[in-house]
Amino acid sequence: MNQKNQRIALITGSTGGIGTALCRKLSEAGYRVVGNFRNEEKAALLQQELDKDGHHIELVHGDVSNFDSVGEMVQTVESTIGPIDILINNAGITRDTSFVKMSKADWDEVLNTNLNSVFNCTRHVIQGMVERRFGRIINISSINAQKGQYGQTNYSTAKAGMHGFTKSLALEVAKYGITVNTISPGYIETEMVMAVPENIRERIIAQIPVGRLGGPTEIAEAVAYLISDTSGFITGSNLAINGGQHMS
Ligand code: CAA
Repeated sequence: MNQKNQRIALITGSTGGIGTALCRKLSEAGYRVVGNFRNEEKAALLQQELDKDGHHIELVHGDVSNFDSVGEMVQTVESTIGPIDILINNAGITRDTSFVKMSKADWDEVLNTNLNSVFNCTRHVIQGMVERRFGRIINISSINAQKGQYGQTNYSTAKAGMHGFTKSLALEVAKYGITVNTISPGYIETEMVMAVPENIRERIIAQIPVGRLGGPTEIAEAVAYLISDTSGFITGSNLAINGGQHMS
């Protein structure tokens, strides 16, 4: 445990729908929360909103798709706040389009932001976790990694890559008290999902057995459980939270 007897959690992509819910939930649960952001305007709004509700979280700038930018960010966090005990690889983007129309930029942006970021962030925090003999790493994947989705060859590839990463790293670091798990949300009520054209979204909702989109807090609750000190026997797993839309 760090000096303040409070574990420090770094959440990437904290300004998004799930990221914001994670900031709130982990702050309520007593963690010292550090939210990563790329967009200054969104970060200012998030800080305002969270302050108003009494959540005192720190926000740090960093481009998760860039290894050196993440290195600087982690150094800043560790020198000004403290060692990172928990990493939630949550940052993600979509560039949906059918494959025949997909540009190299659409592919690279999604792979860099959604998958290479997982290497970039984890690589910079893992050594400290090994030395302190404790760590929790959560990778936020997607239902579409396993199910596939028309228009998402880039996104599904990146999110599927997380499963191999989770399982292999879990094997390597289990002996140091570090767990690595994946959560695979289905369609959650966030800006990302609301950007899907309404007629297509309605068709998707019709395929969800519980009959609705998920709420970001339903993901945050599960993350809070998996990062707790009492969840040390759960590692290398994938938790699907998708209202029954895909069971694997
Ligand atoms: N299955 C079969 N056909 C489909 C289809 C599907 N799921 N979706 C679209 N099509 C068809 C359309 O009906 C249309 O057919 P016609 O040409 O016969 O009219 C055709 O595909 C359109 O094809 P295009 O090649 O022109 O497609 P496009 O490049 O314009 O892309 C799209 C369309 C942007 C992919 C659009 O279909 C779309 O937005 N789909 C939803 C994608 C989606 O679910 N994204 C998830 C975002 S949220 C997220 O990612 C979070 C998470 O983890 C779940």
